[in-house]
Amino acid sequence: MSVSGRLASVAKLRELTAYIKPYRWFVSALFACLLAETAFEIAVRYSVRIVIDDAITPRDVEMLIRLLTALGAGGVVYIGFCLFTDYVWARISLLMIRDMRSVMFAHMQTLPVGFFARVAAGDLSQRFTADASRVEEGMLFGVPMGLLGILEVLVSLALMAQMSGWLLAVGAIGLAASFVLPNVLNVRALRAHYAFRNELGSLSGFVQQNIVGQSLVKTYNLDAKAQSDFRQRADRIVTTGVKSYFGSFLVQRTPSLLFLIVSVAMLGAGAILTMNGRLSIGEFVAVQTLFAGLSSGVGSVAWLLSSVIDTAAAYERMRDVLDATPDHPDPPGAVTLARLADQIEFDHVVYRQGRRHSAGLFGISATIRAGQYVAVVGTSGAGKTTLVNLLLRLLEPQEGRILWDGVDIAAASRRSLREQIAIVHQDVIVFDATLAENIRLGRLDATDDEVAVAAAVAQLTGLVKSLPDGLATRCGEGGRSLSGGERQRLALARALVRRPAVLVLDEATAAIDPANEAAFLRALQPLRGKTTIITVTHRIFMAREADLVLVMSGGRLVEAGRHHELLGLGGHYAALWQSRESATKERPADATA
Ligand SMILES: Nc1ncnc2c1ncn2[C@@H]1O[C@H](COP(=O)(O)OP(=O)(O)OP(=O)(O)O)[C@@H](O)[C@H]1O
Ligand SMILES: [Mg+2]
Repeated sequence: MSVSGRLASVAKLRELTAYIKPYRWFVSALFACLLAETAFEIAVRYSVRIVIDDAITPRDVEMLIRLLTALGAGGVVYIGFCLFTDYVWARISLLMIRDMRSVMFAHMQTLPVGFFARVAAGDLSQRFTADASRVEEGMLFGVPMGLLGILEVLVSLALMAQMSGWLLAVGAIGLAASFVLPNVLNVRALRAHYAFRNELGSLSGFVQQNIVGQSLVKTYNLDAKAQSDFRQRADRIVTTGVKSYFGSFLVQRTPSLLFLIVSVAMLGAGAILTMNGRLSIGEFVAVQTLFAGLSSGVGSVAWLLSSVIDTAAAYERMRDVLDATPDHPDPPGAVTLARLADQIEFDHVVYRQGRRHSAGLFGISATIRAGQYVAVVGTSGAGKTTLVNLLLRLLEPQEGRILWDGVDIAAASRRSLREQIAIVHQDVIVFDATLAENIRLGRLDATDDEVAVAAAVAQLTGLVKSLPDGLATRCGEGGRSLSGGERQRLALARALVRRPAVLVLDEATAAIDPANEAAFLRALQPLRGKTTIITVTHRIFMAREADLVLVMSGGRLVEAGRHHELLGLGGHYAALWQSRESATKERPADATA
């Protein structure tokens, strides 16, 4: 990263003021308290001079008592300020980090599915935890500590100047050098830090995948590979981390080292001035105490410098999420789709799957009438799921339109479209919540009865009865405590409770045994004619009943019609049917499939 790039990253930190704004009164109070604290600390150091010159040297006990009383009273107030500061600090830091996370989370909800395919889940979630905390720490500790450090330095210098211009000159030159040098050393630190944080995120993504995939790791004896992969990542953290920490240490340490040299110079110069009678003993001690106090100010500022780098790198990672382009936003004045009454029309829809020219959909035109039972069949990879994802606007076609009762869905609000569709995907998503809660995701205001009915229709009754807590049983992360078929039936129940205008089943019965599958298909019977059902299936026998069969191959719609018509054509469908027949003959035990 060039110097200008680094500065640009640091400059982006300015955006963070937006998060401080709602709490500006709190933050101002915080600053006021910190100011008071600093003032008191400096006063204590400065009072050394008065104690020596005005009380100890003239042996004035009364003066000493007065001074000590004043300092004691100040100390009590100081403690009060400290307590208040700590409380306010804790509170705003949590509020601000909440706001930052909320903004990022809200933005993440608008990102297209492709974004989530690119970034590992563990890495992404780390941006909400470690990175967000880092940024918040930088804002709340870095900024005030740094500013107070500067203030402490300036006030101490001013007090010293009052006693000796000479000493001030020595101190000021030393200090200036202490700050210029580390910044010159620091050109690489930011890039190193960003790389370091990315490696941390990558490790976290890897660990998460390992946790989720433990059964695969075990059954495929992948533990040695997992360990070596882990080790590689851990090693990369060391390499990038050393660069990043070393950079930070240099930035932090150089001022202190230079400061040490300046301190010796100050001591010598102060001693000579005192011997020449230009400083009193009290002043000499006070100057040295103040200068030692400067050291803490310098430390704070140095800390601020390295903290800015770390914060900027962490914020850069949050920005990666915030800068990601949301899904094609709903156009202004997006149409709200009414419940499907007439038909869905695919009009020359083209969708190219990224850079894979052979993958995608190439000019699909088909009409699905409301209430029809449609079967989409075709070999694996033919584009069936892609078709469904386009209907749901999880993907956007590059050419052509999908018309919903004549309205282009691209011009409609996603919400109104998706409200009417329920899908049971090939990969079922189950959250770590109860069965009932998972079903209710289909329609958040569904009553307990509706949830129970949907569960029954989806053939979950047997499962629910066998569980001690029934529908209130938790499913485990990813539904791990359920079998594959149970997960799929859960997804069906979720779809049914939605009371959709269009029910999409993408291999929804693939994980159900023949008896349950038959029961499920019977359960769908009452919906027929009322709900448009689009079933995507390898199980071609399900097409026999369909009002319309769409046969896909290589991203094209090759045939469309009813079962017997398509059989008569003697084309793709007839071949699929033929292969199913012969497969069934070879496996007479598998009676239904
Ligand atoms: N995210 C993606 N990036 C690149 N190619 C993809 C992506 N998703 C799907 N494809 C490709 O697009 C083609 C169509 O995929 P699709 O999932 O629509 O097939 P399908 O008909 O549903 O197959 P199956 O019956 O196996 O589920 C396939 O060749 C697939 O490899
Ligand atoms: Mg599919």
